[in-house]
Amino acid sequence: MRPLRLGVNVDHIATVRQARGTAYPDPVEGALLAAASGADSITIHLREDRRHIQDHDLARLTPVCPVPINLEMAVTPAMVDIAVAVRPKYVCLVPERREERTTEGGLDVAGNLPAVREACERLAAAGSIVALFIAADPQQLAAAKASGAPQLEIHTGHYADTSGAEQATELARIAAFARDAEAMGFEVHAGHGLNACNVGPIAAIPEIVELNIGHAIIARSLFIGLPAAIAEIRQAMTVARRAALG
Ligand code: PXP
Repeated sequence: MRPLRLGVNVDHIATVRQARGTAYPDPVEGALLAAASGADSITIHLREDRRHIQDHDLARLTPVCPVPINLEMAVTPAMVDIAVAVRPKYVCLVPERREERTTEGGLDVAGNLPAVREACERLAAAGSIVALFIAADPQQLAAAKASGAPQLEIHTGHYADTSGAEQATELARIAAFARDAEAMGFEVHAGHGLNACNVGPIAAIPEIVELNIGHAIIARSLFIGLPAAIAEIRQAMTVARRAALG
């Protein structure tokens, strides 16, 4: 069976901390616990408005994280400067609007190709492996190829937010897109809105080799603890993938 990695996003540990302006709970402590509990990588999103992860979190996490860091960030010169200085193993370029609650929609690579390409070039020169967070929209694929990014992360938000026939249509769109993306040479990831109940069909798509999951894991950890929440979602991923791929 083709392995499926799990990246655990610890942003919302920082959301709880920022709600009170305290020093706890510490997303770095959460990242270390997640890594010890089987996370293959740690994802953090340093948003321009710094609503959860702060610059000092990235600075503190970088030297101690035992698994690769995946830094999500907007395509801006200031964010690229930060990433080039820190040199995380992975960078995921995402769209960002200050008024949104979370990352809504994928990056418009086709509409912003020069800026995306320049960011990809600078990040690759610094040694980071770049993914583009895009909707399963074939129009974005050719532009993504032209950007030079080696990886794509498919936005699963619409899949997660729908049900029935609409969800089935979106799932088929994601599966077809994953096939096309891999055929074009991309490593394919997925994420957003995934939880232990809806992750199975996405985990069963053979071309997808990494899932990045945050909100559901952190929310579930309030009741059963972070190691158990990670084990629960990992189990759901593994059962579905094994059933689909043998
Ligand atoms: N992948 C990307 C690129 C994201 O921006 C996010 C949200 O920060 C996630 C995955 C995780 O989404 P969720 O928190 O809904 O699991």
